[in-house]
Amino acid sequence: MSSVVVLISGRGSNLQALIDAGIPVTAVISNVAGAGGLAIAARHGIPTLVVKHGDFPTREAFEKVLAAEVDRFAPTLVAHAGFMRIVTAGYVERYAGRMLNVHPSLLPSFTGLRTHERALAAGVKVHGCSVHFVTPELDSGPIVIQAAVPVLPGDTVEKLAARVLRQEHVVYARAVKWFLEVRLVVANGAVSVKGNDAQFVFDASP
Ligand code: GAR
Repeated sequence: MSSVVVLISGRGSNLQALIDAGIPVTAVISNVAGAGGLAIAARHGIPTLVVKHGDFPTREAFEKVLAAEVDRFAPTLVAHAGFMRIVTAGYVERYAGRMLNVHPSLLPSFTGLRTHERALAAGVKVHGCSVHFVTPELDSGPIVIQAAVPVLPGDTVEKLAARVLRQEHVVYARAVKWFLEVRLVVANGAVSVKGNDAQFVFDASP
């Protein structure tokens, strides 16, 4: 049986999308006590844990406990869904090839934080989101799937973020399904999908 441990820091709408898509989420771990996603997990009878990064003197000490908790569930996949911690190379190595992240930009543009604000400031006309394997370099691992949306006149950060988020929910579930079906192939840093399903979504709706 495959299983997915989801790591969150906040609201948990991507977690909800994974649950709604029938992904076998076996545990949800948050580094933030009271994160909205914990309540979502609890409502679905999924075990939750909080490992507060602030309780540890170093990133490594935090990750040691985090990894021990993740490993208790022996997950097929670790899915970062709004998990707002930079992780060390050692942690990434432990889950190499079986850790995914959803990022709110069309990578490699706008790695890091405040992606929607920066996209608006840059005047880009197309924005979106990416699901990628996690590698030691921030937001730079092999890209599994991307969704593009228009940037429209009069957009605010909130409007643009909501438009992108709708697509995050679509593509993250799709990417996790492909992973669990063992259909993702990574070669020379690029991901293809066995069966040739489309690895992009263009949604022009406002
Ligand atoms: C999502 O937009 C996700 O892409 C982003 O945080 C939000 C979490 O929302 N992640 C990052 O910025 C990671 N660098 P959610 O808690 O409702 O899923």
